[in-house]
Order: sequence, then C-alpha cells, then structure tokens
Amino acid sequence: MSESTPLVTGVIVVAAGSGQRLGYGMPKAAVPLGGEPILMHALRGIVASGVASQVCVVLPAGDEGLRRLCGSFRDELADGGPLLTLVDGGATRADSVRAGMAALMDGTEAVLVHDAARALTPESVFHRVTEALAAGAAAVIPVLPVVDTIKTVAATSGGDSVFAPEVVTGTARREELRAVQTPQGFTLDTLVQAHRSAEGLDRRESAAVTDDAMLVEMLGTPVYAVRGSTQSLKITTPLDLIFAEGLLEGPLGARWVEG
Ligand code: CTP
Ligand code: MG
Repeated sequence: MSESTPLVTGVIVVAAGSGQRLGYGMPKAAVPLGGEPILMHALRGIVASGVASQVCVVLPAGDEGLRRLCGSFRDELADGGPLLTLVDGGATRADSVRAGMAALMDGTEAVLVHDAARALTPESVFHRVTEALAAGAAAVIPVLPVVDTIKTVAATSGGDSVFAPEVVTGTARREELRAVQTPQGFTLDTLVQAHRSAEGLDRRESAAVTDDAMLVEMLGTPVYAVRGSTQSLKITTPLDLIFAEGLLEGPLGARWVEG
C-alpha cells in the first residue's frame, strides 16, 4: 500500500472488564505487571506509537483508583499529546466499546478499538493498522497464524468417565485460520454502522459477537488483516501474566520488541 495522509484517529481502550479468569479479585486493568497496573502499559504503548489524537479509556463504573491513575497519566502527557478522555464501561465488552464511541471528539475520522488486556502490543502493530486505514481500508485487524490444529466438536450423550462428552465434527484447514488481536481499526462511519446493526441482535446472537470486526463482516464490508505480534498476547489467565512478566523482565529483557 502506498504512503497516505494519516486519519484523525481516536483509540478506544476497553478496560472495564472484571478479570474473572485472572482471579485477582480486582479489575484486570489494575493488576500489577512489572510493578505497574496493566492499564498503564497499554496507555504508554498507545501514546508512544503516536497514532492517537484522542485516547478514550473505558473504565469499570465507579472505580476511583483507575480514574486517579489515568488522571496522573494525563498530567504526564506532554503538550501536543493526545486528548485523554475517561468514561464508564458497560456490562459487556460491546457496551464498553459503545460508551467509548459516544465520547469521541468531533472531527474523528478513524477509530482503533484496543483491549487494555493486550498491555504489551508493540508500536509497529498500531502503525500497520493505521497505515492500512490511511490507504483506504474501512476495517483492519491484526492477526497471527494459528499453531494448533483446530477441530469443531458437538456434544454427545455417549461420553464415559474418560472422554469428555463431545465428538469431533470436523477439522478446520489451518492455513486459512488466523488468531485475531487488537487494535482493530475502522473508519468512524463503519464502526458506527456496525454497532448500530448489533442493536437488532437477540441475546444469544449478541453473546456470540466476540469482536468488533465480526459486526463489520455482518454488514458485508471487507475486513483486511495485517500482521499482529506474539508480544501482543491478551492477558487472560495467570499463566498469561507470568508470560507477560517474562517478556518484561526475563532473559530477553525489556528492550525485546517483536515487530
Ligand atoms: N472489557 C470491557 N468491558 C466489559 C468486558 C470487557 O471493557 N464489560 C474489556 C476488558 O477490560 C479487556 C477486554 O475487554 O481489556 C477483553 O476482555 P477480557 O479479556 O475478557 O477481560 P475481562 O472481561 O476483564 O476478563 P474475564 O472475561 O476473565 O472476566
Ligand atoms: Mg471478558
């Protein structure tokens, strides 16, 4: 893709989840990683990438600790840095994204939706996504090849104590599969339309929507994939946190960046 003028971009950082699977008894965004809350790593990465005119942080409703943390971070931002906006999240990730969208400033042309849980996403991933948007894509996602063989299963009543009560129904063609990360990038119009279309979904259908790109796919708009990064892992379980700590402090050291 040729070089193009960057779009005025707002980054929505969704950080309003409760972190059940991590199991720290506090919102995941507040859990320490390398001595700092997970959210701070995510915010520093976004600001360092230089892609954002605005960073809209979506926090657990009523969480004063994370609000104060973001307030101090705002004071640290240099003049000419992005506008930092704080909003309360909702019951689901999609609700939190919509809360962020409602707080985007006038003149926003493109939006990146990023999970705070992907605290160590390298700047290069932000650049690849925004470059694809500037080159004319309406929707862009960072992806990685899948290393495991992926099978589909169905429940069966024939299971015994040794086997899970599931039977394999097929094997996906691994060359065609990709693991999807964030930041996912959209033109503002595309993201607004996508979330508007989600209003017509019933509860079960809504629960099956696990990312924003899926809503764009439902519109029939092409979603382009760019290269993600293994460093952009989503901290979900305690093992992921150990892995992320290892990336910061282990033999590879803090300077290790996978582009
Ligand atoms: N998220 C959010 N609002 C919600 C649910 C999730 O902003 N109502 C955010 C999380 O803070 C996280 C991202 O969406 O940055 C991805 O969600 P996930 O990894 O599932 O985080 P949690 O929902 O916090 O974790 P868990 O599902 O284990 O409770
Ligand atoms: Mg969750």
